[in-house]
Amino acid sequence: MIDSPATGTLRRAAPLIAAALGTALLALAAWPAAAQPADDRMVARGRYLAAIMDCGGCHTGGALIGKPDPALALAGSQIGFQIPELGTFYPPNLTPDRETGLGAWSEAEIVAAVRTGVRPDGRILAPAMPWHAYAALTDTDALALARYLKSLPPVRHAAPPPTGASETPPAPYFALVVPTR
Ligand code: HEC
Repeated sequence: MIDSPATGTLRRAAPLIAAALGTALLALAAWPAAAQPADDRMVARGRYLAAIMDCGGCHTGGALIGKPDPALALAGSQIGFQIPELGTFYPPNLTPDRETGLGAWSEAEIVAAVRTGVRPDGRILAPAMPWHAYAALTDTDALALARYLKSLPPVRHAAPPPTGASETPPAPYFALVVPTR
């Protein structure tokens, strides 16, 4: 490399610039905890919980076959679960679209569905939705999840309706296959 006076100056200044940048980054890292409004922190906590509790693993279109569609993030699955003697259940749209998602649900109604499996219309969700495990969520974490879902951009996408055990499911589904010998 040709060493011009300009590059020499730059090289001498480099540690200073790095130190200044470091201080700026440190300040930035400390900033959110101090200045972030409580509501943003709830949404961030909800996003974190939704990620580790894998809501998208079922509720994102394509995720159940290993091809999650970013346009259908948490917007419902076209692939369902068949539960013997109960029926076939498709993970619904969790975005706040009023017609196809949770737009008309209150935060309390979302919390109830996630922790107790009870929908606003009184139907109990099939155990394909792991609400038995989610029953252990604290009030704050359950509310954070609901607030995060409410903060998502609404996506218009209807998952197929649940079907009873004697009906023909309208879309593909996972079923339990008992091995034969
Ligand atoms: C293993 C798959 C799976 C995972 C993981 C999962 N769900 Fe579900 N969920 C379902 C299925 C299937 C249904 C539909 C059950 C039914 O209709 O009886 C459902 C239903 C729901 C409903 C009711 C929606 C409606 O319109 O009736 C809500 C709310 C919900 N899930 C939220 C969540 C949240 C939040 C998470 C993550 C914390 C999550 N689910 C994780 C499979 C899953």
